[in-house]
Amino acid sequence: MATLHPNLVVLKNKSLRNLFTKIRDQETNVRDFEFYSCRLMTVLAEETVAELDNAIEQVTVHTPCAAFQGEVVDVDKICAVSIVRAGDSLLGCVRAILPGVSVGKILIQRDERTVEKEAKLYYCKLPPKISEKVVILCDPMLATGGSAKKAIESLVDVGVKPSNIIFSNVVCCPEGLKNLAAAYPEVKIVTAAVDECLNEDKYIVPGLGDYGDRFFNTV
Ligand code: PRP
Ligand code: URA
Ligand code: MG
Repeated sequence: MATLHPNLVVLKNKSLRNLFTKIRDQETNVRDFEFYSCRLMTVLAEETVAELDNAIEQVTVHTPCAAFQGEVVDVDKICAVSIVRAGDSLLGCVRAILPGVSVGKILIQRDERTVEKEAKLYYCKLPPKISEKVVILCDPMLATGGSAKKAIESLVDVGVKPSNIIFSNVVCCPEGLKNLAAAYPEVKIVTAAVDECLNEDKYIVPGLGDYGDRFFNTV
């Protein structure tokens, strides 16, 4: 995996097996897709937050029996940004575990009429102090990598350091990982699955189809 991207974390949680089988199955209906993908994205969100070294502090707490050396997450040091539209589903899970987290949105859509499925940026709204924070960039799918690259460009343009960005993702593939590795090797990627490849329409194989359409019932 290190050959695909130097800063890649692939989740191994056993709980993901059943959840992935449900969401990959094309027979799974919209309600179940939302239910199982939200369970999966909650695991992913927790594991992503656990990787935010710059927002985690060492503390001592006291159990009723003894002192305990632990760590806590400082939500004020974090900004969660979704790549609209599919990213909004993962953003919802991140917000559920980090109530009060500051939020940004970047609307990027693939142009499905182009052979390369070129990513186009339409809208970007980010909090003013984002450059002082660590950023969780949320998008369940990393295919060609065009959308994620454009989103990272928008964050870098307002002063966010690539090393302060963590890309949280449900399914990726070698093509997208290599694309991001070439452009932004410092951006950490936390993914729940690395699939085989892209097909001729630049969809992930085996993948799960169009995440946004299945989640938002626009099939
Ligand atoms: C999907 C997905 C990613 C992007 C991945 O979004 O949510 O943003 O494609 O593909 P890429 O790596 O080749 O850029 P899409 O543009 O289909 O919009 P949606 O979120 O509204 O479904
Ligand atoms: N967008 C998706 O939702 N799925 C893919 O496989 C590729 C892009
Ligand atoms: Mg998108």
